[in-house]
Amino acid sequence: MRNPIRVAVVCGTRPDAIKMAPVVRALRQHERFEVRLIATGQHREMLDQVLRLFGLRPDADLNIMTAHQTLTEITLRALEGLDRLLRESPVDVVLAQGDTTTTFVAALAAFYHKIPFGHVEAGLRTYDKYQPFPEEMNRRLTAPIAEFHFAPTETARRNLLQEHIPAERIWVTGNTGIDAVLWVANQPYEADDPMLQRALAHTGRLILLTTHRRENWGAPMANIARAARTLLDRFDDLILLLPMHRNPRVRETLLEILGDHPRALLTEPLDYAPFVHAMRRADLILTDSGGVQEEAPAFGKPILVLRSTTERPEGVEAGAAKLVGTDTERIVAEATRLLTDPDAYAQMARAVNPYGDGHAAERIRDILWQERLR
Ligand code: UD1
Ligand code: UDP
Repeated sequence: MRNPIRVAVVCGTRPDAIKMAPVVRALRQHERFEVRLIATGQHREMLDQVLRLFGLRPDADLNIMTAHQTLTEITLRALEGLDRLLRESPVDVVLAQGDTTTTFVAALAAFYHKIPFGHVEAGLRTYDKYQPFPEEMNRRLTAPIAEFHFAPTETARRNLLQEHIPAERIWVTGNTGIDAVLWVANQPYEADDPMLQRALAHTGRLILLTTHRRENWGAPMANIARAARTLLDRFDDLILLLPMHRNPRVRETLLEILGDHPRALLTEPLDYAPFVHAMRRADLILTDSGGVQEEAPAFGKPILVLRSTTERPEGVEAGAAKLVGTDTERIVAEATRLLTDPDAYAQMARAVNPYGDGHAAERIRDILWQERLR
């Protein structure tokens, strides 16, 4: 009888936890895998919220987060901690997802220990080094290290092939984020947060806004907030639900411009389940988030992407998302069109799901099993 396959799953931020939770669960359903969940703690509250929801407790937690942390600090602290953990408790494979600094560092630490690395959500690209920053380079630096490339879509697979990643090391699995969102959407749910209750009970229209990207800090984010304020003033049945990222740089700007508007509901980051229900209730979603771009189309919600480029072109190609950048007038014009032109709205509000079918994590598990590492 073979030894179990020892897998270290590394997560650090909110989206890492959301996208790796289904993988941890799928691996744990299979007796041949021994799973060690490692949290870098790049995020604290926002990571813990998700782990709690999925009933996951890290086997090790590096707890690295500090207020105003720099990319270098995250990299150094996570690398040192992961290096120690992999030395003390060797594993057969390390897995992490997407484009966060935790993920890039997990790949690097695995490489230094000559442990195969599996990249979940591999192959997303804008081919613009600084957009998104530093995520585009986190992904690109992770790719040559990885032994397993779990691409969510055909487009992602083609990107990897173009970079000379061998075809036999790429598997199109769908995105595990869709596994997570469908699971959460099917759980019974009752809103207990008063702000969210107000949003969900509102009889007029609801815009859901999230923004946190580094390249939007400062002036672009102020433009976004001003656009939201203009829309609230233009449509008096409208309310804005804005769960604010915990980054102080993000909050400062949003609170200054929208904090006193009676129809702007500025909240703490919502737990994942309430956030999913807010997406389903929303009439329109404005976001610079990667994950939200994948999730919103599944619920048939028109989505305006507050960025000039995206590594998730499938939603745009399907007509569910539109890239609008961060110019105030452009955002106001595009949102106004959707709020006043039922045909334009209906054209975008067709539920499509180009990112996955909800079974990506099982595929990843089965691939790892078939490829049996030893
Ligand atoms: C990180 C990821 C980004 C991802 C985002 C998801 C990197 C470099 N960036 O960006 O790709 O889109 O997470 O949200 O990996 N903070 C808290 N509590 C928390 C989380 C954050 O207080 O639970 C505050 C801290 O002051 C921290 C700051 O937010 O210093 C920024 O966090 P950081 O992980 O550096 O950047 P994000 O913008 O969150
Ligand atoms: N999300 C959440 N609560 C919020 C805002 C977002 O649970 O208040 C979820 C969202 O559904 C998505 C993920 O967080 O799955 C996206 O994370 P984020 O936007 O922070 O990072 P990105 O995807 O841009 O890396």
